[in-house]
Amino acid sequence: MDALTALHKRVSVPRLGAPGPDAEQLEALLRAAMRAPDHGLLRPWRFVVLDGERRERFGERLEAILLEDQPDADDAAREKARAHSLRAPMVIVAVAEIEPDHPKAPPVEQIMATACAVENMMVTAHALGLGAMWRTGGWARDNRVKHALGFAAKDEIVSFLYLGQPAGNIKSVPEPVLTDYLRELP
Ligand SMILES: Cc1cc2nc3c(=O)[nH]c(=O)nc-3n(C[C@H](O)[C@H](O)[C@H](O)COP(=O)(O)O)c2cc1C
Repeated sequence: MDALTALHKRVSVPRLGAPGPDAEQLEALLRAAMRAPDHGLLRPWRFVVLDGERRERFGERLEAILLEDQPDADDAAREKARAHSLRAPMVIVAVAEIEPDHPKAPPVEQIMATACAVENMMVTAHALGLGAMWRTGGWARDNRVKHALGFAAKDEIVSFLYLGQPAGNIKSVPEPVLTDYLRELP
């Protein structure tokens, strides 16, 4: 698929089946991430690839965090935490490893650069015929989850990027009216 088609047609795919990206596809995704724009060339993005039983191990850590907050959590809530990363064969957790006092690139720019890296991966996934879905949610803002992934409270989980084979229908999105998004200089 050519680059413009991938950019113009990418959609999120919530239902994802096996297999996940193979080694070659994963490398293509990560190489695309590395080409994200990045103020100060900090390369603030870090990626934790959850596949196979790593998804279960991560889910067990989420369940343990849930039980710290809610020792009486019911089975459904515990199962939901354990199943966090089982919705797809692979989840790439994208984390901005923040350099807090950088003179040129404040933390928000480091987060934006990491977000660009995620979008590069999403477009690449689409071009490769893979499905992808960006999720965050409450876990992404929990410092204990950052620690469970090997990061510090200052760092930011930017995305849980779910990846796999598109399952079910790929939605079609109406073409937006471009002028709705343009404003004249006042
Ligand atoms: C920063 C960010 C966080 C998001 N978090 C979630 C989420 O937690 N759950 C969810 O269903 N969609 C989330 N989304 C939205 C979906 O990934 C997706 O973009 C949206 O459903 C629109 O679909 P489209 O990408 O096909 O236009 C998030 C998107 C962004 C950019």
